[in-house]
Amino acid sequence: MVKRVRAILNSPTYQDHLDKNSIEEKERPFCRHHFDHLLNVARITYILILEEGNPFISREMSYAAGLLHDIGRWNEYREAIDHAQYSAELAEPILEDAGFSKAETGLIKKAIAEHRLKDEPSIHRSPLSLALSRADSYSRLCYRCEANRDCNKIDQQPTRDSLQY
Ligand SMILES: [Fe+2]
Repeated sequence: MVKRVRAILNSPTYQDHLDKNSIEEKERPFCRHHFDHLLNVARITYILILEEGNPFISREMSYAAGLLHDIGRWNEYREAIDHAQYSAELAEPILEDAGFSKAETGLIKKAIAEHRLKDEPSIHRSPLSLALSRADSYSRLCYRCEANRDCNKIDQQPTRDSLQY
């Protein structure tokens, strides 16, 4: 894996946020936000960027967005904050330490902050922002989930009946 993505994975701060997510979601029956979810979202984000033929979003940027997009989820359980915005704030120093430029960091942060938005035509969103939130939905295997009967989001999920990516 390329250097800057490896730097994110090796960041002690990053690993600490993942540990906190695991602790907070230990008993959670619904979607969790562990490393495997972040990696699935990273990979699908990049697949979508490739499918769209977007030359301006690199594999590293796609992976950075996916790997970091839920790192503040733990604090939504503790303090009821918006984890999308909070994850974007937590991502900034990790991205800078990993060597992403100011412009790249800004684009990735914005995509993370917007990842809970649905396709909303009135808001201008970057291709990375749109790919990240779509990848987030596609990554969930709702049709195989044991908690799907109790999930209040099941009818909006693109994977309710089958795999998408
Ligand atoms: Fe999220």
